[in-house]
This record gives sequence, C-alpha cells and structure tokens, in this order.
Amino acid sequence: MTIKKRMKSWSLVVVAGLLGLVAACHDPTITVDSSDPSAAQTVKQSLPEGTSVEVIDRWQVEDFDKDIVQFATVFWEAEDSVSLRKLIRETNLVRDKRVLEIGTGTGLISLCCLQAGARAVVATDINPQAVANARFNWFQLEIPQTTENFDVRLVAADNSGAFAVIASQEQFDVIISNPPWEDGEVQTVADYAFIDTQFELLESILAGLDQHLTVNGEAYLAYGCVTAIREIYRRAERHGLQVEKLDERELDDLEDLFLPGMLLKISRR
Ligand SMILES: C[S@@+](CC[C@H](N)C(=O)[O-])C[C@H]1O[C@@H](n2cnc3c(N)ncnc32)[C@H](O)[C@@H]1O
Repeated sequence: MTIKKRMKSWSLVVVAGLLGLVAACHDPTITVDSSDPSAAQTVKQSLPEGTSVEVIDRWQVEDFDKDIVQFATVFWEAEDSVSLRKLIRETNLVRDKRVLEIGTGTGLISLCCLQAGARAVVATDINPQAVANARFNWFQLEIPQTTENFDVRLVAADNSGAFAVIASQEQFDVIISNPPWEDGEVQTVADYAFIDTQFELLESILAGLDQHLTVNGEAYLAYGCVTAIREIYRRAERHGLQVEKLDERELDDLEDLFLPGMLLKISRR
C-alpha cells in the first residue's frame, strides 16, 4: 500500500478574523495553517460567504511530494482512483489536453492531471467545501500552473446535472470522474460523496458525453461498486457509448463494494 495516513499535524487554528467583513453573528471559521497567510487568503477567496471549512486530515499519496489536505465533509478514499491516477501519471493521457473532472472532492485527480501536463483542467463539485478544498490543494501543492489552467466550479444542488456548469459549446479531450456510487437519499452535503440518487448523476454524465467530448475524446470513470458498474453497462448502450473495462478482475468475482476501484473507459461507438 503506497497510501499512508499521516498523523494530523496541523493545529486547527481559527482565522475567522480573515472574514472580518462578515458579521460576527455568522461566525465563519476557516481552519488553516495560520503561519501561511497567503494560504488562508486562498481559502477565503474560495468560499461562498458564511461557509466554514475545517482541515480534518492530511494524506500522503504517491503522486505528490507534499500531503493532500482534506477539509471536513469532503470525500477521501484514494484507493478508488489508483488505476486512474496511474494512467494519468504514466501515460500521455492528459498531456497538453483539456480535461474535465466531475466531482473533484479534494482535487486529487484534477491536480494529478495538472501535474502530468494537462493544458487546462475544469473541475466541478456540488459541495462548496470541496470547491475550496481543491483550490486550496492546488495552491499548497505548488503545482506550476497559472490559475487560468485550474477552474473549479460549484454546482448548484437544484441544478446538479454533470454538465450544469459547463457551457453548451465547451468540449474536453478527456472527461474523468470517480462519481458517488450508491442509490439513496442525500441528507447532508457530505452524502454527495457516495450517494447518487437514482443514478441521476451517472445518467447525466453518459447523456452529455457526446456533446462535451472532442471528436477523439474519451471518458474514464472509476468505481468501486459492482451495482454502479452494472448500471454503466446498462445505460451506456442507450447513449451510443461503449464501455471498456481496464481491469483484469471480473465483476462476478467481486463483493458489491470493493477496493481498489475499477477503471472504465467510455467512448463513442
Ligand atoms: C466519490 S467522491 C470523489 C471525489 C474525488 N474525485 C476523489 O476521487 O477523491 C464524489 C464527488 O462528487 C461530488 N458530487 C456529487 N454529486 C455531484 C454533482 N451532481 N455534481 C458535481 N459533483 C458532485 C461529491 O461532492 C464528491 O466530492
């Protein structure tokens, strides 16, 4: 296992004063390393007014020298995307390409794309803390890109299709996602990490690929759930898409929930 959980090493320092413009009764709290004011400033700029974030953990992954920071309510399970990140790291999949990641969480996969030489990455998430988290990790990992190259967009809960914040003419060479995998009802913002009610997000991803992929574009989905993967096979055909399993394991041999996640390549027929 190359992913190692580290001791929480950041003291949780409240720098609510940074948001002094906000009335005290909102009491927004940002919890970051106060020794780095520019990092705190970056988080501040990332947040909708009144949103608070809290650093809850730091993780070491093989892709970066520095730890990835995880904010409260934001998903973490890097084993879901092991094979996707390996593909990004070890091939030219994203080099000089324009990439869209749907549901970026901490920004882990998008930041791997930037590090691997993607020309531009657009990342979306429905969780405001995830949007702030991805921007913050981009900043603190010091990936040598300009802000124009990493565009993190917040998806509204009442208009949450996969391409809701993507303009109709926007196209990408590579579209990637490690989507939520379980049908159910979302109760809290953290639930978006794993619940995809009636697989509506998956359905909207598949439905929008033809419009938002360039002529030779490809999509890659990482899932660690047999039920969700069977949904992909069932639905892809209806959208004129083919699914290629980039994994030697057979679905019949796996528990419904499994790790590491399985990588599926989706392309036009
Ligand atoms: C399984 S997590 C993956 C996070 C990250 N890509 C990773 O691999 O660590 C799924 C992510 O999708 C986000 N999400 C769920 N529904 C979404 C939607 N409709 N639009 C955009 N993001 C969504 C969640 O908030 C969560 O961050």
